[in-house]
Amino acid sequence: MNVLLRRLAVALALAWALSACGGAAPGAGGSAAVPSDAHSKTYPELVVGFAQIGAESEWRTANTRSIQETANQLGVELELSDAQQQQGNQIKAIRSFIAQGVDVIGVSPVVETGWDEVFAEVKQAGIPLILLDRNADVAADLYSARIGADFVAEGRSACVELAKLLDNRGAIVVLEGTEGSAPMLGRGAGFAECLGGYPDMRVLERRSGDFIRARGKEVMAGLLREHGSAIEGVFAQNDDMALGAIEAIEEYGLRPGVDIKIVSVDAVRAAFEAMIAGKLNVTIECNPLLGPLFFETALKLANGAPVEQWIKPAEGVYRQDTAALELPRRKY
Ligand code: AHR
Repeated sequence: MNVLLRRLAVALALAWALSACGGAAPGAGGSAAVPSDAHSKTYPELVVGFAQIGAESEWRTANTRSIQETANQLGVELELSDAQQQQGNQIKAIRSFIAQGVDVIGVSPVVETGWDEVFAEVKQAGIPLILLDRNADVAADLYSARIGADFVAEGRSACVELAKLLDNRGAIVVLEGTEGSAPMLGRGAGFAECLGGYPDMRVLERRSGDFIRARGKEVMAGLLREHGSAIEGVFAQNDDMALGAIEAIEEYGLRPGVDIKIVSVDAVRAAFEAMIAGKLNVTIECNPLLGPLFFETALKLANGAPVEQWIKPAEGVYRQDTAALELPRRKY
């Protein structure tokens, strides 16, 4: 089928999708609305390429699953590539999507910089580009939309929560995510900015655990060897690293969540289990169930319909006191 006919078929499908969809946003562990009778309506004419980062965390696995499941529900042809944390692999995947002539390209940039050239190639090819989850440090005209969280706000929330837990004073360590990635930079900036308002709270160390549980454990064990019980609080930039840190703290002989307060980001199920066990204090939600919003936006873009440049999913803050109530509702 030629491109014009394909666009027409997608346009007709879109008209139905938008009337049924209502454009809901995700929140509280749920996902954006896919048309309730989506299984009866499919979009076999739409081809979407998505350059995923890898599988570094529970969050990422849930994000990939959400994209695959929504593509299956809608019958969209999805070309999914796993870059194994390498920016070079994501760039190769994007170039191969251009060569295949897909209708829309999505990417979650592993790091913020280094995208100008390949994004310009996507623009030159006339293919709409969606940044899903992580943002890139490029001119706004090099992509069509970003769907993802406000990482700076997440960092600020983490700081406010840790300050409450520590009565506005204490020594903190920060377990950072992948060096140069948007969530690492954004959460770090929001946390640091907010911490400026708490003169009696100080950061002892910031170290990268790469968003990986085993690395979070290893880094926390090293920090405990160096600073011991002087550490009163941990800001882990994702739940996986917090879960690793919990293991390290227990092996060191201290009580995570009690002797050392811990705040992290993501709100995966395992974080709720850790809160119920009293080992994690707070998790700031970063919703990975972006598949429905991604394909809704892709359909609009494939048809030249307008979209917002930054689409933010609704997200919450979860503490120990409501963890048991929330756990059964969690979808990731
Ligand atoms: O970009 C979102 C972050 O990436 C999540 O917080 C983290 O768990 C993931 O690996």
